[in-house]
Amino acid sequence: MPNRPVRRVALHGRSNFFWETQLERQTTYDYKVVRQFAIITVFWGIAGMLVGVIIAAQLAFPTLFEGIPWLSYGRLRPLHTNAVIFAFGGSALFATSYYVVQRTTQARLFGGPLAAFTFWGWTLAMLLAAITLPHGITSGKEYAELEWPIDLLIAAVWVAYAIVFFGTIAKRRVKHIYVANWFFGAFILTVAVLHIVNSAFVPVSLTKGYSFYPGAIDAMVQWWYGHNAVGFFLTTAFLGMMYYFVPKQAERPIYSYRLSIVHFWALISTYMWAGPHHLHYTALPDWAQSVGMIFSLILLAPSWGGMINGIMTLSGAWHKLRTDPVLKFLIVSLSFYGMSTFEGPMMSIKTVNALSHYTDWTIGHVHSGALGWVAMISIGSLYYLIPRLFGKVHMHSMKLVELHFWIATLGVVLYIAAMWVAGVTQGLMWRAVNADGTLTYSFIESVESTYPFYYVRLLGGAMFLAGMLLMAYNTWRTVAEGRSADADDAIPASATR
Ligand code: HEM
Ligand code: HEM
Repeated sequence: MPNRPVRRVALHGRSNFFWETQLERQTTYDYKVVRQFAIITVFWGIAGMLVGVIIAAQLAFPTLFEGIPWLSYGRLRPLHTNAVIFAFGGSALFATSYYVVQRTTQARLFGGPLAAFTFWGWTLAMLLAAITLPHGITSGKEYAELEWPIDLLIAAVWVAYAIVFFGTIAKRRVKHIYVANWFFGAFILTVAVLHIVNSAFVPVSLTKGYSFYPGAIDAMVQWWYGHNAVGFFLTTAFLGMMYYFVPKQAERPIYSYRLSIVHFWALISTYMWAGPHHLHYTALPDWAQSVGMIFSLILLAPSWGGMINGIMTLSGAWHKLRTDPVLKFLIVSLSFYGMSTFEGPMMSIKTVNALSHYTDWTIGHVHSGALGWVAMISIGSLYYLIPRLFGKVHMHSMKLVELHFWIATLGVVLYIAAMWVAGVTQGLMWRAVNADGTLTYSFIESVESTYPFYYVRLLGGAMFLAGMLLMAYNTWRTVAEGRSADADDAIPASATR
């Protein structure tokens, strides 16, 4: 490629938006791996949420699959969390980060076959998870259930991911590193550290290893990992997605680029210290619990700063929300992000946590973040990405995208509203005491009063899953009608602005 000078044009008069350059038009990007990860994301979304619906059904109808060990609740629950967080969420992040880093650095992915290794390695690790977890092979650490051989595979894939991502940044052809890459970069580095430290084990057989850490230290390390898995996997990385796909779809620059930088540093420096809010009223020293609570409260500010920055990007383009279902997914996901990051700090206050902990309130909080934020922003970004990866501007049917949006939104609302009411009811029933000091309700009475909400949650979850099936059909038709696009000029110019 001739080394011509780069012509930079700042779109919309803001210097830090995306540059349209001569070189960009001629760059041949590696979209194969992006396509692979994008398509498999839809598959894993359906698989993971189907397991979610099954376990939701088991809670509503406890005798479902009774006597079949590999379909028991205790084995399917970690299968659900691994499939939705790591297989679905992880693949969405690989797809989008590989796309974004190439587009914003105007360089092809670094490392040749390493990118393909990350796809096959990650997919193999997820398949191994799908086999081992129903067999009851688990480390027992939440969100880190996979046994040590799979952990080693994941570590190798992650190192390759870091080399590809940072290598691409190093050979970038624009000076500036766009803010989305900062978020993706922080996610990659932090998850590497979390995974390696928390997975330290003493192997006793091929399928069993014991944690390296004893007692309360193990709990602390586990929730330092667990919370930052939420903070960096389910939040920081998806904010990287937000900072690229929201402005692209809205065709507006980020509301405040300065705020995005403040947002980045404030978020990553605060998240690390909030983990102890998962261990209130436990053997963890009291001061450590209080530190966790204080940092969780501080976290509200950068979280909302990011949300406002994303939503205000629509300034001057609000009317697009009426007609563009992809934008609806992206903006509504930010509203759920705002909701869950307001709720989280409240739940970290010790006295509030005394009510919410162990109840379905936590499950409501989790899914307002996981379904409302993580799944919706991924779906919106994929609806932007998939047609462009196959030489088209739009999905096969935008009407189906619109329908998907409404089913999904209604599904999340049913799910989380049911869990909030169920959770607060449980918490209040457990602490109600009579004048003589005896408990007003037996535990089983609180279980009975939860059933109606479990049916509603099941309905909400099934609706969300139905939306994913529509997405799969729409994706299949889009791929069938399109053609693989690797060079920028294979994509209509209007699609790349
Ligand atoms: C159709 C959609 C979904 C349904 C029906 C569903 C259902 C469920 C159910 C029934 C549980 C167990 C709750 C309990 O133990 O009381 C659960 C747990 C969980 N789910 Fe989902 N889920 C869905 C989607 C997702 C997605 C997309 C994510 C993440 C991106 C996610 C993340 C989690 C997590 C992290 C937990 C564990 C929560 C905790 O331990 O506090 N779920 N889900
Ligand atoms: C400012 C941001 C946030 C804060 C301060 C926060 C705080 C909390 C608190 C206090 C709990 C309950 C701990 C317990 O009682 O066991 C919790 C649970 C949880 N949160 Fe958040 N949260 C935040 C944002 C989010 C977001 C955006 C997501 C998802 C995308 C999320 C996912 C989870 C999960 C998965 C759990 C359950 C962990 C478990 O027990 O298995 N959180 N969070």
